[in-house]
Amino acid sequence: MSEAFRRRLRALPDFPSDLAVFDPAIAPDDPTLLFKEWFEDALAAGVPQPHAFSLATVGPDGMPSSRMLILKNLDADGWQFASARTSRKGRELVGNPRAAMNFYWSALGRQVRVLGTVVELSAEASARDWAERPAADGGANPAWQLYSLRPVEIEFWQASPDGDHVRHRYALPA
Ligand SMILES: Cc1cc2nc3c(=O)[nH]c(=O)nc-3n(C[C@H](O)[C@H](O)[C@H](O)COP(=O)(O)O)c2cc1C
Repeated sequence: MSEAFRRRLRALPDFPSDLAVFDPAIAPDDPTLLFKEWFEDALAAGVPQPHAFSLATVGPDGMPSSRMLILKNLDADGWQFASARTSRKGRELVGNPRAAMNFYWSALGRQVRVLGTVVELSAEASARDWAERPAADGGANPAWQLYSLRPVEIEFWQASPDGDHVRHRYALPA
């Protein structure tokens, strides 16, 4: 049975065949500009939830855990997301404020990895994020927190049909 599943997995294509060619030599110096370009490409290609990413945090025993979140903004404050401070990720970020984001846009064969340090943004910004939720009911949530990841490293990855995948890495001052 596990052999049948293995074969079923192996029969699937890794990536679509009609992928863009990415030339890091002409990529912008500012990684946030490249991210916004790739994000717009993902939207235009009909990628569902292009603003969804996986966030990995690390617990006190060194065990990583990850979950999907929604990107709330990307500006001078950093790469922003919101969650409850009382959640597992919220507790893990208190103990170890380092985290890794991973965006994947399957139709384009593109992945973006962002590693860095997470800070809490203001109570006002957090309250505004809570109030702007699609299911907002007017009530407050004091545990709701807007966080910002300040990157030390960002890697853009473009799959290539010939298997010669392209990586472009930015190292940023911590
Ligand atoms: C596509 C997607 C987007 C999500 N966005 C958020 C989000 O923005 N904030 C959040 O707290 N949870 C979000 N969740 C739920 C989280 O993945 C997670 O289940 C929850 O935050 C609890 O995680 P934790 O126990 O690891 O802290 C999302 C789930 C999915 C599948």
